[in-house]
Amino acid sequence: MRRILIATSNPGKLRDFAGAAVRHGVEIAGVPGFSSLPTVVEDGETFEANARKKAEEYSRYVPGEMVVADDSGLEIDALNGAPGVHSARYAAPDLHNKEPHEADANTDDDANNARVLRELKNVSAAERTGRFVCVLAVARDGKTLATFRGTAEGIILDEPRGTNGFGYDPLFYFPQIGKTFAELTAEEKSKYSHRGAAFRLFLDWCDGSALERRGFGSPLGSLRAADGGKSDILSARARKILKILIWTAGMAFVGFLIGSETTSTGWDLWRDELPPTLFLACIGLLLGWIFSRKISK
Ligand code: IMP
Repeated sequence: MRRILIATSNPGKLRDFAGAAVRHGVEIAGVPGFSSLPTVVEDGETFEANARKKAEEYSRYVPGEMVVADDSGLEIDALNGAPGVHSARYAAPDLHNKEPHEADANTDDDANNARVLRELKNVSAAERTGRFVCVLAVARDGKTLATFRGTAEGIILDEPRGTNGFGYDPLFYFPQIGKTFAELTAEEKSKYSHRGAAFRLFLDWCDGSALERRGFGSPLGSLRAADGGKSDILSARARKILKILIWTAGMAFVGFLIGSETTSTGWDLWRDELPPTLFLACIGLLLGWIFSRKISK
């Protein structure tokens, strides 16, 4: 079973990730000694920049291991995408008289929610749209291998509802099932949440790279799924199936050539038939490789 390390000190996140991963033959663990490592400053302007920065920096402490880090938050359309990357410290101006990016620590969930409610006070129900966003980055030895983005679309209520979850969950109404995120069980939350969506993309990518390691990959190089968001265009699973079909068709074609074209036997067969068969097989593989590059874009 492959091991993936998660850069978090939050046991709830580790539990969520581990539950979903075990079915994919992936073991989830925390980065060893995470709480004693220097904190990575999340000063990026996007969720992706912060997730990459965390994954890259923490992966340097565990050479050769894959490290996953996430960054997430709430984007509200009527607030031009705020709180966004400042979600965890949105109440800093109220509590510490500082802008969120200058604050030394996260601010309290209730205070963050209070600021959102105040800013949306005169915004009509129809305009209170927003989404939770989660970006996961996976890195090894200081280099990002891939990133995955998950979202959950909803409406920001004018008062909290529900007692489960954390952060902005009580204000986030999810029309698809008519509940706020704070009214969901842990299983429901992982099914519908932005974090669950991003993590499923990551697990698909793990499945794809496992197949490549077993020899189903492109012959001329890496055809890794999801690098830089490519996985959004064609799912890793669909790409996997297509790659298998291409390889199987190529092999069947070569088998057909050998079986049908020759009347020679023994050494004669190898001498007479091998060079043209090899030539055709190379062309078949080259075409298969070009085609599989195309479908991964
Ligand atoms: P982080 O990615 O764990 O640093 O989360 C940043 C902030 O976004 C949190 O402190 C929450 O305020 C908010 N947030 C992220 N994900 C969720 C969620 O699933 N529910 C509620 N709030 C969230």
